[in-house]
Amino acid sequence: MASSFHSLTVSSVVPEGQTAKAIGFRLPDELRETFRFVPGQYLTLKAEIDGEEVRRSYSICSAPDDAELRVGIKKVDGGRFSTFAQALAAGDRIEVMPPEGRFTAEPGKVKNPLLIAAGSGITPVLSIARSLLEGDPGAEITLVYGNRTTDDIMFRETLEELKDRFMDRFSLVFVLSREDQDVDIANGRIDADKLKLLAGKGLIDPASHDGVYLCGPQEMTEACSAALQEMGVSQDRIRFELFTPADGGTIPPARKQEQEEKAAGDVVVETILDGARRSFRMNGKQGKVLDAAHAAGIELPFSCAGGMCCTCRCRVVEGKAEMDVNYSLQPWEIEAGFTLACQSRPLSEKLVLDFDAS
Ligand code: FES
Repeated sequence: MASSFHSLTVSSVVPEGQTAKAIGFRLPDELRETFRFVPGQYLTLKAEIDGEEVRRSYSICSAPDDAELRVGIKKVDGGRFSTFAQALAAGDRIEVMPPEGRFTAEPGKVKNPLLIAAGSGITPVLSIARSLLEGDPGAEITLVYGNRTTDDIMFRETLEELKDRFMDRFSLVFVLSREDQDVDIANGRIDADKLKLLAGKGLIDPASHDGVYLCGPQEMTEACSAALQEMGVSQDRIRFELFTPADGGTIPPARKQEQEEKAAGDVVVETILDGARRSFRMNGKQGKVLDAAHAAGIELPFSCAGGMCCTCRCRVVEGKAEMDVNYSLQPWEIEAGFTLACQSRPLSEKLVLDFDAS
């Protein structure tokens, strides 16, 4: 099943910057096809930590032809999974869900993207940059990458090596917020003003790219997205992957109450996953679809449970549902009937959700 976990062996652990590690997995031959990925996708990892199941999604930083499948994991203060992951060693086994995600760029389909990343937002962006440069001799890439200091830069050696190898086709700008660099324009944070300054100096030319990929905290992706549109980039060419929502992913109490009041009480929910139909009853005033399915013993795909990763994306094929929060579905997906099971409350007495819809 595409949505089920597989036990993989950790084959390498490499420190990246001061607080991150790249964790590599060896794939047995029979799982190579299942774990084939498009640059920019992520893996969901699952572990039991202090007696509780914890899942997190991490972007793949390797390229599809690499011998190992690797993810970048940055240690987050108080982060249960990221702290656990820092102690992983070669030979350990961990549960991993096959690749997912729509923040993707395939060699040949995207030729000259502008990539903008902050902190650990570099992980999917590195996979995209390497895959395009190595897989398409015509690809030209500009990467603007923000960090606090040089020591915080993840994959610095890999990026510099890429720059040396593809000098004519890869422009790399490091922006540092807590360390002075010789070139003044490279100091500070990546935001709307910084993009305008970089464009003014000719270091980036946003409107000339066939795609812009933004990966980092919500504040940065939103500010940059607005600035890029002002600079002539159409919205449909801007893609983003969110790492941290600006509000910390919490729903204001008034909004929660409003959602609970609107939701239907006694509801039959039917799910379609890997071709199998299953149903359960729930009360939308007391919870959301993912939690109710879990309580009924029905396993649905999920990772963040906070509306960010899209692992629980499904299409409403009958009935109505509304999300408490949504940080990842694009407007066209909502129009096409997609929803996030982890955030959805039914508004109708019957709700049918198709997790196989793409
Ligand atoms: S599980 Fe991440 S958005 Fe629902």
